[in-house]
Amino acid sequence: MHSPRPPRQTGERYGPVAIFFHWTIALAILGMLVLGTVMVRVTPGSSLQFELYQLHKSVGIVVLVLSILRVLWRLTHPAPALLPTLKAWEAALARITHVGFYVLMLVLPFSGWMMVSASVWNFPTVIFGTFTLPHLPLLSTLSDKKPVEDALKEVHEWLAIAMFTLFLLHLAGALKHQFVLKDDTIGRMLPWRRAAATGADRKEQGL
Ligand code: HEM
Repeated sequence: MHSPRPPRQTGERYGPVAIFFHWTIALAILGMLVLGTVMVRVTPGSSLQFELYQLHKSVGIVVLVLSILRVLWRLTHPAPALLPTLKAWEAALARITHVGFYVLMLVLPFSGWMMVSASVWNFPTVIFGTFTLPHLPLLSTLSDKKPVEDALKEVHEWLAIAMFTLFLLHLAGALKHQFVLKDDTIGRMLPWRRAAATGADRKEQGL
């Protein structure tokens, strides 16, 4: 039976599970952007490069799994509403950024998995030295892998650039809430804050 979604409330916080996903995935992705950028620049073919690639692939697959769980969680647990004090364009930009993040959280690590599956080098992906992630079917059995691998490298890099761009937008939005609008939007996603009054709540209470 279909049960109606619980109503959204102004000033509501994100729940502990959403907060856990947000900060774990955010930190992992930021680390992965740095790691990816560094590892492609160390001595090619060195054992250091090999180890960094394995670490990158392992963390990336963890991000993919966490992101799938996060999307499932988000689809079944509605987020608190955006503050009604936002202008229409601000709310639209916030929504586009959030949807963009969900798409990239899934597509960026998956493109990495596709790339290593299509690689002519056929290196295994050993997750934290424990088990080997299978290559994706179809891609691993292509007769001419090189052009596909090259294209997927480009795609992976551009998706990483898009992720970094969204991160900058998201950060700019968060800082605007904190220091210009002063509405405690950030507090709704901080693990150590209890339900804090939002700007709208304060206005309502005449504070
Ligand atoms: C959150 C997920 C991920 C992020 C943010 C990320 C980010 C990056 C970045 C920034 C680069 C450097 C691109 C360049 O400058 O050429 C890179 C390269 C690479 N990534 Fe990822 N990545 C992620 C997930 C994955 C996954 C899951 C895999 C594989 C299972 C993977 C495999 C690779 C490989 C093999 C390269 C090197 C490509 C080359 O040799 O040019 N990545 N990644």
